[in-house]
Amino acid sequence: MKYNIAVIEGDGIGPDIVTEAIKVLNTVGEKFNHKFEYEYVLMGGCAIDKEGTPLPEATLDVCKKSDAVLLGAVGGPKWDDPDSKVRPEQGLLGLRNGLKLYCNLRPAVLYAPLKNESPLKDEIVKNGIDICIVRELTGGIYFGERGTEVIDGVKSAYDTERYNVNEIRRIAKIAFETAMKRNKKLTSVDKANILDSSKLWRSIVNEMAKDYPEVEVNHLYVDNTAMQLVKDPTQFDVIVTSNMFGDILSDEASMVTGSIGMLPSASLGDGTLGVYEPIHGSAPDIAGMGIANPLATILSTAMMLRHSFSLEKEAKIIENAVLNVLEDGYRTGDIMTEGKTKVGTVEMGDLVCKKIKEGK
Ligand code: IPM
Ligand code: MG
Repeated sequence: MKYNIAVIEGDGIGPDIVTEAIKVLNTVGEKFNHKFEYEYVLMGGCAIDKEGTPLPEATLDVCKKSDAVLLGAVGGPKWDDPDSKVRPEQGLLGLRNGLKLYCNLRPAVLYAPLKNESPLKDEIVKNGIDICIVRELTGGIYFGERGTEVIDGVKSAYDTERYNVNEIRRIAKIAFETAMKRNKKLTSVDKANILDSSKLWRSIVNEMAKDYPEVEVNHLYVDNTAMQLVKDPTQFDVIVTSNMFGDILSDEASMVTGSIGMLPSASLGDGTLGVYEPIHGSAPDIAGMGIANPLATILSTAMMLRHSFSLEKEAKIIENAVLNVLEDGYRTGDIMTEGKTKVGTVEMGDLVCKKIKEGK
């Protein structure tokens, strides 16, 4: 089969890590006789520089027509002026919204060979961590009404958290279905002791729970969830939450699993088109130095094969290859510990490709 992939390298380490992910896709393609075709498009800071806008129309068009989108990372200090009218992040939000990708899957897995990289005590993480965060992606405070105004001579600014019933229902549905395929445990995270939007969120999740009697549902406030994630992350299976809470909790979950350089993500909508990107940022301080960890992006290609192309066997082979390379003791700087072998971005990509070629 032939698959068309739109590629957004983005800024900072984006090009470094995307190059390795494509190498991995090509290796899988050769092994299993799939043809992956790539069309490179601009988004983020580099698009602002070249086209004056973080998401050129042509980029969105190419992405819409593709079977999947592979994305590195966007942003950097060059475009960081908070007063600037255009920011790289607007490209990312525009892409998510433009492709109607309302569901963001962020699996946080502590790989056995990386147990020592978790900042948590051995007795807490000894049974491993395997959480899937289901983050709402096109609603809430990220897309609500906002503004800055002067009232009675005092400058003020506001943002709005707003969810409607349909937005909550469709994300909760994916969360329940994800839980059904896993350990049938769903934690819905909100701030229902304060926020109306959270009260609605909770009531819809409860209403839908009746359709999934096998799923054990519990509700946690977001502050408590932040605490529980470091106290005992093994209690979680699937977490469903709003756009902003999901943004924050997924960064926390990534640290608990050792490194932000390890976590992939898939942004999905109603069809099979998805955007696949690492959850980490563009790390401009190490851009082009050949030391960035490409594994989160490589693991994102596994999610692409699984969710957009239904190529489960191929997805698994990538995930196993990553695990095997870690078992063999290879580490990029961010996950390096004594006694392990330090490698750069390209070498890490090569090692994964080698394991894929050998893998069954
Ligand atoms: C993420 C990022 C983005 C977000 C930023 C870059 C806009 O932090 O994907 O988690 O907040 O969604
Ligand atoms: Mg984030």
